[in-house]
Amino acid sequence: MDCVKVALLGCGTVGTQVARLIGEQSKDFTARIGAPLELCGIAVRDASVQRDSSIDTSLLTENPSEIIAQADIVVELIGGIEPARTYILEAFSHGASVVTGNKALLAAHGPELYEAAAKAQVDLYYEASVAGAIPVVYGLRESLAGDRITHVLGIVNGTTNYILDEMAVNGLSFDEALKQAQDLGYAEADPTADVDGLDAAAKCAILASLAFHTRACIDDVHVQGIRDITAHDIASAADAGYVLKLVAHAKRRGEEIELSVGPTLIPLEHPLASVHGSFNAVVVEAEAADRLMFYGRGAGGAPTASAVLSDVVAAASHKVNGGHAPRELIYGNAQIVSVDDMQARFQLELLVRDEIGVLTNVTGIFARYGVSISAVSQTNSREAKGICRLIVRTHEVKRRDLHAALEELSHVNFVDSVARVMTVEEN
Ligand code: HSE
Repeated sequence: MDCVKVALLGCGTVGTQVARLIGEQSKDFTARIGAPLELCGIAVRDASVQRDSSIDTSLLTENPSEIIAQADIVVELIGGIEPARTYILEAFSHGASVVTGNKALLAAHGPELYEAAAKAQVDLYYEASVAGAIPVVYGLRESLAGDRITHVLGIVNGTTNYILDEMAVNGLSFDEALKQAQDLGYAEADPTADVDGLDAAAKCAILASLAFHTRACIDDVHVQGIRDITAHDIASAADAGYVLKLVAHAKRRGEEIELSVGPTLIPLEHPLASVHGSFNAVVVEAEAADRLMFYGRGAGGAPTASAVLSDVVAAASHKVNGGHAPRELIYGNAQIVSVDDMQARFQLELLVRDEIGVLTNVTGIFARYGVSISAVSQTNSREAKGICRLIVRTHEVKRRDLHAALEELSHVNFVDSVARVMTVEEN
């Protein structure tokens, strides 16, 4: 091949950096691939918009199909489901390999894309879809192909980690911290996907599919976001020796897997506790390797472009030298557990009357539903006289049993309110 032609769909924060680096590192890429990479076009919504000086404006087009038809590799950085899905399928039908960072699309239509790539005998790569620059897709799919993964636990959304960290360390309000994350280019175009946990849920589904060789989609993930987290939650976590993080969990229990995203209390000694700012980290537990942690920048233009370009180099090498990306493996065929049957350790807060026998009655209700308590602490409530705050932590219990106990507690006269239920991770 004289050169490998790359069509770039999208020229936002990440696309701009991809275009810049293809230009700046062209000698290295040629040496690694065995032929030069040539950017044959950049599809944008509005070609008249002012762009970064690294962008060659003669490459801009408002017609993606025009450059898809010429390309050996299509890099999809538009995001969202449509028209991204249509353009990717179009690329496959023209015999182009695809590199995408589109977690929402993969978590909703991954099997369709994998099948179309296999049929066209081209590559589908998506390192940038999870945790920005961190090579966790490669890690799960290739580096750990000789092992059995049991648990994946990750801080995979930079925006929410930044927000929770700024609230904890610098005392910012939720809105102030979100605004800063947006200004720094971490947040999605619509930050709802970040703060409501949907971005992390899509990544959780992708990681679980790779770790457990089972198809998982975003609807399989139980999701809770961070919109209602308060300074009080963060302070009480710190008092108890924890830090509050939005964590994606994918856990195998025998032939079943549990998938969830939610605010999680992480002990200060846990490796995820030291992940600050917009950084991401994914802890993987495997039977032979034991615990591994992948850590790095999970958002932002240049870090994400690094992941995109690693895939471009791999796909381009296959075009030049032969070979294929790994195919989808779904032999694991694990059952995905319903939310009620998921098990976790929990912490919850109860405001109760400060009277003789109340603690016995509270623990009695938990016992009746098979909820085993691991710790209880009591403080005087600032809210009202004669009311105290109980913080209860449980051993591993099913959500169904916990919720049944909480439902009963919310109706008894010695309980004023049941607040904040969060999962708790162990070291
Ligand atoms: N909005 C995402 C984040 C960007 O904050 O992590 C990377 O997917």
